[in-house]
Amino acid sequence: MCGIVGYYGNKDAVPILINGLKRLEYRGYDSAGIAVLGEDLNVLKRAGKVSVLENLIDDHVLSGTVGIAHTRWATHGEPNDTNAHPHLDHTGNIALVHNGIIENYQSIKKVLEKDGIQFQSETDSEVLVQLISKIYYQDGLAFHDAVQAALQDVVGTFGIVVICKDEPDVMVAARLGSPLVLGIGDGEYFIASDSSPIVEHTRSVVYLDESEMVVLTNDGYTISKIHDQQIVNKKITTIEHDLEAIEKGNFPHFMLKEIYEQKNTITDTMRGRLQVADGTAFLGGLSDYMPRIEKANRLYITACGTSWHAGLIGKYLIEEYADIPVHVEYASEFRYRHTIIDNETVVIAISQSGETADTLAAIKKAKENGALTVGICNVVGSSIARNTDCGVYTHAGPEIGVASTKAFTAQVTVLSMLALLLGRKKGLNKLQGIKLAKALNDMGQNVEVILNNTGMIEKIASQFSDVDNFLYLGRGLNFPVALEGALKLKEISYIHAEGYPAAEMKHGPIALIDDNMPVVIIAPHDQTYEKVLSNIQEVHARNGRIIIVTDKKSKDLTRLSDHIIEIPQCHPRVFPILASIPLQLLAYHLAVIRGCDVDMPRNLAKSVTVE
Ligand code: AGP
Repeated sequence: MCGIVGYYGNKDAVPILINGLKRLEYRGYDSAGIAVLGEDLNVLKRAGKVSVLENLIDDHVLSGTVGIAHTRWATHGEPNDTNAHPHLDHTGNIALVHNGIIENYQSIKKVLEKDGIQFQSETDSEVLVQLISKIYYQDGLAFHDAVQAALQDVVGTFGIVVICKDEPDVMVAARLGSPLVLGIGDGEYFIASDSSPIVEHTRSVVYLDESEMVVLTNDGYTISKIHDQQIVNKKITTIEHDLEAIEKGNFPHFMLKEIYEQKNTITDTMRGRLQVADGTAFLGGLSDYMPRIEKANRLYITACGTSWHAGLIGKYLIEEYADIPVHVEYASEFRYRHTIIDNETVVIAISQSGETADTLAAIKKAKENGALTVGICNVVGSSIARNTDCGVYTHAGPEIGVASTKAFTAQVTVLSMLALLLGRKKGLNKLQGIKLAKALNDMGQNVEVILNNTGMIEKIASQFSDVDNFLYLGRGLNFPVALEGALKLKEISYIHAEGYPAAEMKHGPIALIDDNMPVVIIAPHDQTYEKVLSNIQEVHARNGRIIIVTDKKSKDLTRLSDHIIEIPQCHPRVFPILASIPLQLLAYHLAVIRGCDVDMPRNLAKSVTVE
C-alpha cells in the first residue's frame, strides 16, 4: 500500500529510483513521483502508473545523487497529479514521501493554516512535510531533529523518507506502522518499503522496527528511537532471494509465473519439516512453544482475504486431526469485537506480506489479552513475523502479483503440517499420519500434472469471458476453495463471483441460476461426493452451466456437467490445495481474455497497510 524508495550515494539517483518504483508498483499504482537533490530540489509527479512518470522524465532535467520516490495507493484525496507524492513544504526546499495515514492531519492542518501556510493537495501527507518545515525553519533545529520533533505530534501510521535542500547530505526515514528497509551498499544507501528495489544493489539490509528512524549522512547511518533518540544497534541481515525471484522471466505476468512456481514452492514449504516415515512434521519455529499450543483451550486464526480462506481450511484440518476448537476471524472484525481470549488461547495470524494493518492490530490485541501469538508469514522479517511470539515461514518466495496464488497454497501446506503435528501429539495414529504426510509429499508432482494439462481451463475461459456472474460451490474443506476461486475471479477479471457452501445454495443463491449462470462446483470423491452430486443435480435441473473440478470423471459428472476439469487423485485432505490451482488459472485466463491488467488490478494493492 504505497511504495516508497530513497537513494543516497554517488550514482545518478533517477534510474535507481525509477527502477525501484517499478519493483514496488504492486503496492499501489494510482500515481507516481520522484524528487531529486542536485544543485536544486526537483520534483516530478503524475497520476497513473510508473511508466507515465518514466516517459515524462526524458523531457525534464532531473539529476542528483540523492532522491526519493513514491508509487501511491490513494487514501486521502483522489489520484491526481497534485495529490501524488513527493510533497513539498511551502518553501519548496523539503520533500517527503509517505506511506500510511496521518490521522490527526485535520487538526495540524488548521494550526498551520492559521500560520498562513497554503496547502496544495488534499492529502494527509502534505501536512507532515509542512509541519517539519515549520519546526525546522522556526526553531532552528538540525533537519533530522526537526523531523523527529514533528513525528512526536503525529497520530497515525507512517513510513516516510524526507530530504531537504538546505542540508543536502542528510536523508531521514522513519516508520510507525508502515514497513521500511535500509539497504547498505558500498558507499551508498537505499531505503524502501520492502527489499525488492534493494536486492539488485546490495543484499545487506536492516529491517527498521516500529518507532525507529534512520539518519543518513556522509558519515554513514544512525538508527534511533523516534521518541527519545536513543541509538539502536541493529543486526544487518542478508536478503535470501535472488533477483530472478522478483522478475517475470519469460512469463507474461507475475501471476502466471507464480501459479507455475507452485510445483516447487509447495515442496519448498515442506522441506526439512515433513517427516514422512514418522507420519508427522517438525516446525522449528514452534518447537519451544508446542506444549502451550497443544494445551490451548481454543485457537483463533485471524487473517484477511486469501489468507483468511487458507485459515478456514486450517480450521477444518486442525479440528479433525487435533480436536482443538478453532475460530477463524477476519482480522478487521477480531480487532474490534469482544473475543474470548485468555492465556490459554493461541492466536495464529496468517499473512503473505506480514504487513497487513488489521492483522497486525489483531495480534496486538491477542497479546494484550495474554494469548500466545503465532505468525504464518511469507515475507521474512516482516512486521507480523517480528511481532508474534513464534511462527512458521511459508517459504513461497517473493509474491509480486496482487492476486495471491503460491502464498495461498503455501499457507494451506503449513496449516496441513501443523494439523498433522498437533494431531500426532494428540493421539492421531501413526498410520493415518503417514498417509497424510505421503499425500503432502506427493503434491509437487501432482501440481506438475495439473500445470501440464491446462487446455480444458483455457477452453472454458474462452467460452465464459462475456458473462457477468459466476457461482462457486464446495462442501467441507472445499467450501473455502470455492470462496478463494470466487475472490480470484473478482479481483482480476472484475466478474462478479460468489463462493457458497454447496448445500447452502438452496437457501438463496439458487434463485440466481438460469441458463446464463456458470456454476463451478468442486466435487472430489470423498465423503461429501454423493451430497455434492445432489447439489449438482439441483443446478442442472435449473439449466445452470456446470463446470466441475474433480479428481475422477464419473458417468454422473459427465452427464450432468458442461465441462470437467480433472486433477490427479489424491488424499481428500490435500485435494483443496490442488483444486485451487485450476481455479487460479481459470481466473487468470478469463482476465487475460477480458483485457484486464492481471498483475495490477484496479483499486487493489498487494499489501494493505492501512485500516
Ligand atoms: C489476495 O489475492 C488478495 N490480494 C488479498 O485478499 C490478500 O490476501 C489480503 O489483503 C491479505 O494480505 P496478506 O496475506 O498479505 O495479509
